[in-house]
Amino acid sequence: MTEQTLVLIKPDGVSRGLTGEILARIERKGLTLQALERKNVSEELAREHYAEHAERPFFGSLIEFITSGPVVAAVLEGPRAIAAFRQLAGGTDPVEKAVPGTIRGDFGLETQFNLVHGSDSPESAKREIALWFPEFPA
Ligand code: PPS
Repeated sequence: MTEQTLVLIKPDGVSRGLTGEILARIERKGLTLQALERKNVSEELAREHYAEHAERPFFGSLIEFITSGPVVAAVLEGPRAIAAFRQLAGGTDPVEKAVPGTIRGDFGLETQFNLVHGSDSPESAKREIALWFPEFPA
């Protein structure tokens, strides 16, 4: 079943020059890029995107980080695209959870600076695609 997912290359991935490497991994996996845009993130967009984490202790630093520089936002499509991208990304903690061979496992050291975000469910994907790409066809 074809699915769509919202992916962000976070400010650390963009500033470290890893955008091409990450997009290449996505394309080699077989996922297709349906939308792609470099964006400066407003605090309003950041708070809306991470609304479900508003009560968590790291929320303030997460918002500060995601608004600290440009991100690259993308809509990916393919069979089981949500799980497929999360497999490519690896676990949230780049050392304790992500294994080598994944984006976070290969390039990350700290949980906050974990390079990428991918939607975690069909409902999140729908909400996040509408938030980041309001003009994208539903
Ligand atoms: S997940 O993927 O939702 O299960 O991960 P979770 O652990 O719930 O984390 C939710 C998002 O918060 C980020 N995160 C953190 N940021 C800064 N500091 C700390 N300690 C921290 N822990 C988790 C994590 O990267 C998730 O962001 P996204 O963009 O969804 O990956």
